[in-house]
Amino acid sequence: MPLTKLNLRLDPKLFAEHGVNVNDDSLAERVNQRNKRMEKLYNQQAKRNKQKVIWDKSLWASGEISFDFKDWKPNERQNPIKAKNLGNKAFKLAHQMATNGHLNVIMSGDAGVGKTSLALAMLSKLKQDNKTVLFVSVIALSQLVSDQYEYNDRKEQLQDLKRAMCECDVLLLDDLGADGGSAEKVMSNGYTGARKDVQALMFDVANNRYEGTKKEQNAARKAGIKLSKPVHQTIITTNNMTEELERIYGERTISRLISRDPNHRLAFNDMEDMRTKEGI
Ligand SMILES: Nc1ncnc2c1ncn2[C@@H]1O[C@H](COP(=O)(O)OP(=O)(O)O)[C@@H](O)[C@H]1O
Ligand SMILES: [Mg+2]
Repeated sequence: MPLTKLNLRLDPKLFAEHGVNVNDDSLAERVNQRNKRMEKLYNQQAKRNKQKVIWDKSLWASGEISFDFKDWKPNERQNPIKAKNLGNKAFKLAHQMATNGHLNVIMSGDAGVGKTSLALAMLSKLKQDNKTVLFVSVIALSQLVSDQYEYNDRKEQLQDLKRAMCECDVLLLDDLGADGGSAEKVMSNGYTGARKDVQALMFDVANNRYEGTKKEQNAARKAGIKLSKPVHQTIITTNNMTEELERIYGERTISRLISRDPNHRLAFNDMEDMRTKEGI
């Protein structure tokens, strides 16, 4: 198709001065292809910028850690077969989450078994698959919630972080329950859970991620679309049992964040069995 068919007001003489024949059959196609390439590049760049803006809000307990699936070494673990299976399961789940999945993943086990590392490998893959991802250490978050009353810049940081926690494609909540105290304390009579301000924040985040933000819900209602839940996916690492997490943050929060589907639960060791046996 020649350029003259593109519905543009063209002055053929002006183009001829630059050696361009507006009646050339292949020109319009080339212009179209070029525009498409430019648009794709522009969208990729915009996505990358957004990814960086969100990732930079990550809250670390003691400095950023980078970990990829290639760093996962099953043979160096106590139980190599189990470690290999966990790695494979995590990789498949990350793929599922990247391709229009609507699922939450929980990784549970004692300290040092590799939960945070494997969860970070999933985030790294999701990032490559163009998802906006965010890391939040629950201990650091609890500290930030306390600090907001003393420092204004902390208050602003928390508001900003909360928005990102509600809206990002995939949120990693690292060490959920670590602010709740020992398992014995959590399960004792009269235990009242995490601090009320942390509980309230966690509920808002869990609810927005599960049901979608108000804006997303309104847009869906207008368009007559039913949102698939969870609208935004969450990966949890924890060394608490789900029952303990319910006592720390409340059942309504935990049911929105934690999957009961065994396919979406990674048990790193037999913590749950051990605790039951020991009667803890
Ligand atoms: N399969 C593995 N391959 C390589 N390093 C591992 C593996 N599992 C754990 N590690 C290393 O062991 C340490 C503890 O792992 P981490 O992910 O922090 O455990 P957790 O979050 O369960 O406490 C880290 O330095 C981590 O890199
Ligand atoms: Mg950890």
